[in-house]
Amino acid sequence: MGMSLRHLYDERIEAGEWHPDPAQIAALAPLDRIREALERPAPRPRGGLFRKAPPPEPVRGLYLWGGVGRGKSMLMDFFHRTVGIEGKRRVHFHAFMQEVQAGLHAARAKGADDALKPVAAEMCKGLRLLCLDEMQITDITDAMIVGRLFELMFAAGVTVVTTSNRVPADLYKDGLQRDRFVPFIRLIEDRLEVVHLASPTDYRQNRLTGADVYFTPADRLAREAMEAIWQDFTEGAGAPLVLKVQGREVELPLFHNGVARARFWDLCAKPLGPADYLAIAEAVRVLILEDIPRLSSENYNEARRFVTLVDALYEGRVRLIASAAAVPEMLYLEGAGVFEFERTASRLREMQGADWGRDRAA
Ligand SMILES: Nc1ncnc2c1ncn2[C@@H]1O[C@H](COP(=O)(O)OP(=O)(O)O)[C@@H](O)[C@H]1O
Ligand SMILES: [Mg+2]
Repeated sequence: MGMSLRHLYDERIEAGEWHPDPAQIAALAPLDRIREALERPAPRPRGGLFRKAPPPEPVRGLYLWGGVGRGKSMLMDFFHRTVGIEGKRRVHFHAFMQEVQAGLHAARAKGADDALKPVAAEMCKGLRLLCLDEMQITDITDAMIVGRLFELMFAAGVTVVTTSNRVPADLYKDGLQRDRFVPFIRLIEDRLEVVHLASPTDYRQNRLTGADVYFTPADRLAREAMEAIWQDFTEGAGAPLVLKVQGREVELPLFHNGVARARFWDLCAKPLGPADYLAIAEAVRVLILEDIPRLSSENYNEARRFVTLVDALYEGRVRLIASAAAVPEMLYLEGAGVFEFERTASRLREMQGADWGRDRAA
């Protein structure tokens, strides 16, 4: 059996990589329980060779919730890396639901009556452990299927470990037809151990305090600095994230654990509008935005979208790390929109403050 998470955590502390955090240490106990249960070899069937072995008792999973930057994703990733079994998977909840919705779509196109069953069966094939990062339910189409989806996954013996910013009872809070969602909350509370990661420290903010968050000019040094920040946040992991907004798809080129990375042109040269930028601001806690150019009436559409993007990030208290051709006040010097840009420049300044984003709601 593998080394305990507690032991490996302590090694990281010894090495000076992580700070000892009592709330995180408390959360290691249930994770170690799950790891041990999953790694334990399946008992040999009793009562003769020909008796069919009963399906193994499913291992009770975990719902780890708490404020942002407390180390939920870090602990889950650490757990996922460490568990010594085949058939484990870690995926962002959003990407997972997109996969399910795409599967449903395909199954229905083939004429399946009960599309969820084959989709869940396919999903659970060979799967023993599913780690879902950032469970969050805002979409009614997701809200209406998660209950049965999770029932099918539990019935297939899949152990679910998930992180969330919210306590289960507050999932899909104020959502449409919420009464139909309540059985899912009961299911989660019943089938998963619910643990509050109540650390007082927001490590993500701590990492940025005192760090540069606005680089100008957008030269090689800026690129290297931003690459280093990205690596620090994500350890190099990252994949495109597609957000569904009013039936459209908005792609973030790189995303991992609440941190997105894009270039100005990825977000401001496409015909995106306020709803798209709000969806981005909701999905992301830190946006690394590279190569903001000088703006003018020449690139008025891009500039206008940039203003909308900054407003959305500002409203959402998203941490922005940017490289730009000039300081905020010098980005937009002539042409229609100069006046409006003053507010944007001032917001860009304010967002550079060390405390920016601390008050972001979960
Ligand atoms: N005990 C710790 N010591 C040092 N860094 C930590 C610790 N816990 C978390 N971090 C770092 O803080 C950042 C935020 O943690 P994360 O797991 O992403 O938070 P959450 O998922 O709760 O929002 C990550 O970069 C993570 O590596
Ligand atoms: Mg997280």
